[in-house]
Amino acid sequence: MRSLLNKHALITGGGSGIGLAIARRLYAEGCSVTLLGRTESTLERAVQSILSSSSSFDITAPPPSVSHRTLNVQNPASWKALLRQINTYPTSFSPSESPIDILVNAAGVAQRRPLVHLPVEEVDALIDTNLKGTVLGCKLVGRAMIRRRPSSSPRRKFLDEVVTKEEEGEGTGTGGKVVEEGKVVEEGKEEEGGKGEKEGEKEEEGKKQEKKMEGVRERGVIINVASLLAQKGVVGTSVYAAAKAGVVGLTTSLANEYGRSGVRVNAILPGYIETDMTTDLKVPFILQQIPLRRFGTAEEVADAAMFLIKNPYANNCILNLDGGLSAV
Ligand SMILES: NC(=O)c1ccc[n+]([C@@H]2O[C@H](COP(=O)([O-])OP(=O)(O)OC[C@H]3O[C@@H](n4cnc5c(N)ncnc54)[C@H](OP(=O)(O)O)[C@@H]3O)[C@@H](O)[C@H]2O)c1
Repeated sequence: MRSLLNKHALITGGGSGIGLAIARRLYAEGCSVTLLGRTESTLERAVQSILSSSSSFDITAPPPSVSHRTLNVQNPASWKALLRQINTYPTSFSPSESPIDILVNAAGVAQRRPLVHLPVEEVDALIDTNLKGTVLGCKLVGRAMIRRRPSSSPRRKFLDEVVTKEEEGEGTGTGGKVVEEGKVVEEGKEEEGGKGEKEGEKEEEGKKQEKKMEGVRERGVIINVASLLAQKGVVGTSVYAAAKAGVVGLTTSLANEYGRSGVRVNAILPGYIETDMTTDLKVPFILQQIPLRRFGTAEEVADAAMFLIKNPYANNCILNLDGGLSAV
């Protein structure tokens, strides 16, 4: 079963590396994905690669979509335009239905120079992309998630029905209960006048109590891609590390602030992962420091993201994924 059928994810940095691997996994689970980045051609290639590598969908519902939009995460106007476009942020500012279930903040840029040699413009770019970009995503998309109402779009309604039927199983209908003129009577039991009514009231009261204990309804999930460097001192990465440490602080604070509204916020702290960002770093000096003696893959980070997205109790999970480098 495609467990994320009927969901929609926004992925910054979705055109390459870790963001693309997460997008591919989400799509394979039935989730519609919108890839975000600055370079149109990179995003187009990424969309094609997702479509060509995915197996076909076997349900009778409309398949999930893969789309892309150019966005500079540093720029609030760029975020607002995006949200307006996908109809989650009406100019009226009225609370509205949000079709975004998942936000992955994976856009990032690296640093390769000691602070004393780092031009101030590069300091700005590192903080604005790695930290401010994530803050803006959490703020603007998070707000849309918190304000969301039950879906009314025809596609979502249709998919909700498909999923509900699949979960109930064919032919079981009311799941072991028989509906008679608006009342639910357990199979094989006769209703006994007043006694039945009282039991019904008790059952209703019990259900209300159970509902209170269920906790808040889930309204969305945010995954922030931070870095092991937020916690480990490595020469030439100071501002990047500071920005990623900021992302960890942001995640923890929002897990409390947003968690109460049903939006879970988690972070992944990857070590060295094989992507365009690290091609020049795969040298013996670095490899021999990693207990597992290899870089991780973007797919392994995507696995971690899927765990955080799917586990409904994951909130403020700050997940190291570094081959043990954090232990050294
Ligand atoms: N690879 C690693 O070892 C490693 C380790 C720890 C953490 N991380 C983090 O993992 C995330 C993904 O990195 P990666 O390894 O997958 O590298 P990557 O392939 O270079 O991906 C970075 C992505 O961010 C996008 N991006 C950069 N600046 C942007 C901006 N201002 N607005 C929108 N998009 C922007 C890039 O697309 P455009 O240039 O087209 O905009 C690119 O798709 C980053 O946050 C990185 O810091 C990576």
